Amino acid sequence: MSGFPVTRLRRLRQSMPVRNLVRETTLTAQQLVLPMFVREGQREPAPIGSMPGVVQHSLDSLRAAAVAAAEAGVGGVMLFGVPEVRDAEGSGADDPAGILNVATGALASEVGDALVVQTDLCLDEFTDHGHCGVLASDGTVDNDATLDRYRSMAVAQARAGSRLLGLSGMMDGQVAAVREALDTEGFHDTLLLGYAAKYASAFYGPFREAVDSQLTGDRRTYQVDPANRREGVREALLDVDEGADIVMVKPAMAFLDVLREVRDAVDVPVWAYQVSGEYAMIEAAAANGWIDRRAAILESLTSIRRAGADVVLSYWAVEAARWLRSR
Ligand code: PBG
Repeated sequence: MSGFPVTRLRRLRQSMPVRNLVRETTLTAQQLVLPMFVREGQREPAPIGSMPGVVQHSLDSLRAAAVAAAEAGVGGVMLFGVPEVRDAEGSGADDPAGILNVATGALASEVGDALVVQTDLCLDEFTDHGHCGVLASDGTVDNDATLDRYRSMAVAQARAGSRLLGLSGMMDGQVAAVREALDTEGFHDTLLLGYAAKYASAFYGPFREAVDSQLTGDRRTYQVDPANRREGVREALLDVDEGADIVMVKPAMAFLDVLREVRDAVDVPVWAYQVSGEYAMIEAAAANGWIDRRAAILESLTSIRRAGADVVLSYWAVEAARWLRSR
């Protein structure tokens, strides 16, 4: 009997029913949030070349897509606005008539009871220089002047009907500043998602096309260096300290170690953002027949959950939600 395996892990894998019974990580529709783009003055949805299947919505197509998302059972939608006119201060961001706030209002009344309507709170879509904040006279991003803009944006978004603000600008003190501004105006129930560990990543490439970004240069003076794990965890701890209800790690797949560490370090929900470049890579490989599209998408989402994400923001949220429901 020598050499006979005493422990046989294959017992746990012998059939689908057994595998179903011992599966450690679940993925459900309500754990997915769909990021959506809405463009001012747009009459028909416009495809985004680097993100096949994703569009810049018109207000009408946005509404219809949000209803479809609610019917698919996703947990929420995260709205990004693409304004017609940009300026140095990003004036369109806190204008109640600005595209993001108008679209938020439309979705709040259309699907606000079925899912959580969320908004990206950052200036980069609204500034003519494309940075996430306003610039000082020397051209650097002015942290504290930007916080004033974020306060104003936060109140405008909450007023428009956003239930959860995604603080993605990576300015120091943004969570505390926004919380204070909301509380002062009586918006005590507006949730804050701190983009705690948001890395200066090459995987945001296709997103820049999605929002017609005006950025020249990079965001390395405010987003985290991809080489730094401990600093990502510090960002998360700080956001919790400032009052974040939820913290985010972004991107997801290249930062699963950070995600796990943040999950272990904090008690608040932890979300992850499967970003545009992650989407584009799998779509491109699948279009070439190099990868099984559906299997790769589900594996990527499951792995992000396994690493510690309670919820995943994903451009596949609705499609994946439908697969999960029909399974
Ligand atoms: C900036 C922002 C970015 C993304 C979301 N919000 C881009 C950036 O920081 O340059 C990227 C999302 C994606 O790539 O899917 N507010």
